[in-house]
Amino acid sequence: MTKTTYYTASTLDGFIADEHHSLDWLLKQDIDKDGAMNYDAFIANVGAIVMGASTYEWIVRHHVDKGEAWFYSQPSWVFTHRDLKGIDGADIRFTQADVESVHAEAVEAARGKDIWLVGGGDLAGQFADAGLLDEVMVSYAPVTVGAGFPLLPRRLDLRLRETGRNRAFVTAVYDVVGRLP
Ligand SMILES: NC(=O)c1ccc[n+]([C@@H]2O[C@H](COP(=O)([O-])OP(=O)(O)OC[C@H]3O[C@@H](n4cnc5c(N)ncnc54)[C@H](OP(=O)(O)O)[C@@H]3O)[C@@H](O)[C@H]2O)c1
Repeated sequence: MTKTTYYTASTLDGFIADEHHSLDWLLKQDIDKDGAMNYDAFIANVGAIVMGASTYEWIVRHHVDKGEAWFYSQPSWVFTHRDLKGIDGADIRFTQADVESVHAEAVEAARGKDIWLVGGGDLAGQFADAGLLDEVMVSYAPVTVGAGFPLLPRRLDLRLRETGRNRAFVTAVYDVVGRLP
């Protein structure tokens, strides 16, 4: 059955980007590409991708505009209120539909594989509000940044299912149980 997973990296103080949208704190870390919660093992079971406009623009600015290809072969939904430009050869679907209908389309497109909710945190929260977020997988980097874009700005009850270490990172997998009163 298709799961919806928010898979991301966070600072120890709970931010997925600093206040300038920088991920320098993340990219400088030591990581074992075959280690705990590694990207290759995760993406192998992803059939559809969902992200917000800032995350999309970060990828475009840091990779596509520098001549690299779009990372993903899976159909990808990007939530935005703006008329953003797509990328040649990439299956990117800009949307401002409600999260329930985008989720239903993504489940169908995923053909039994999982949905990766890339971020940001509020979009993951919107899926959680709708009861459509199943799992949170976080790699915690050994840094604090004091301010920025929060990991998951909601009151949620989670169940810790797995922990691990990947060099600099503490990795953790949580099931979403429901809302916290
Ligand atoms: N640490 C990591 O691994 C990681 C992972 C993912 C992202 N990031 C970074 O974290 C930051 C996240 O930025 P962010 O919090 O601004 O999140 P975001 O979800 O990437 O983008 C937010 C934008 O998405 C659009 N949006 C969100 N919900 C929508 C809805 N229901 N309908 C229509 N549009 C909607 C809006 O764009 P409009 O302006 O078009 O209205 C909103 O301003 C970025 O810098 C990103 O690069 C880090």
